[in-house]
Amino acid sequence: MWQGRPEDPLVLPAMPPSVELLPYSPACLEPYFRWRGQAPTVNHNPLQSLTFDQVRAVLESERSELDGAGNYRWFVHLGGHVVGSVSLKNVNTQMGYAELGYGFCETSHGRGVGTAAVRLVVARVFAETSLRKLVAYVHDQNVASCRLLDRLGFVREGLLREHYLILGAPADEVVFGLLRREWNVTPA
Ligand SMILES: CC(C)(COP(=O)(O)OP(=O)(O)OC[C@H]1O[C@@H](n2cnc3c(N)ncnc32)[C@H](O)[C@@H]1OP(=O)(O)O)[C@@H](O)C(=O)NCCC(=O)NCCS
Repeated sequence: MWQGRPEDPLVLPAMPPSVELLPYSPACLEPYFRWRGQAPTVNHNPLQSLTFDQVRAVLESERSELDGAGNYRWFVHLGGHVVGSVSLKNVNTQMGYAELGYGFCETSHGRGVGTAAVRLVVARVFAETSLRKLVAYVHDQNVASCRLLDRLGFVREGLLREHYLILGAPADEVVFGLLRREWNVTPA
């Protein structure tokens, strides 16, 4: 199995970060595989154990043009580096909702990159689809992720007790929801 490489040094610009969303390309695979195995991701997400090739197959199956059913993912580029991704899954066109997911390399954390990237994806989804609601499930111990969604105007709708197994232990998940009409009034 692919073992990963030491972290690439990241020189991040001063706030606010100017991130770009791009479709999957082979250059995204290695960094994605690396941050998927980092502690902040592993400790807060119900991850399947996948080989490098299995991860490649998943990423190649996902799409970036919002044109109906399927799973979507956009890679977050910052200063020439691929630093994270934001996904849209469980798209229910009948009910008009879908689920957001996101993850970033450890070296970019705490610099506003996650908030900037998720904000771009939410704006794109509401601009390019008729979805009326976005949801996200967040481990209740994942303070940064909860703050990110609070910041974007998501509402805490409830707690799913012991909903996921994370590292083999039951984990409570906060359900966050954002309605299209709430996004329109969310300050940029
Ligand atoms: C959760 C995650 C996406 C946040 O991304 P980020 O780029 O670090 O977030 P930002 O820098 O935009 O900060 C978002 C908020 O979290 C706060 N924050 C960031 N890191 C924090 C930490 N380690 N502890 C507490 N708060 C933190 C920030 O201060 C900010 O809050 P504020 O707006 O009130 O100041 C990132 O930590 C990550 O990729 N984690 C691993 C994968 C994961 O858990 N994904 C979420 C699945 S639901």
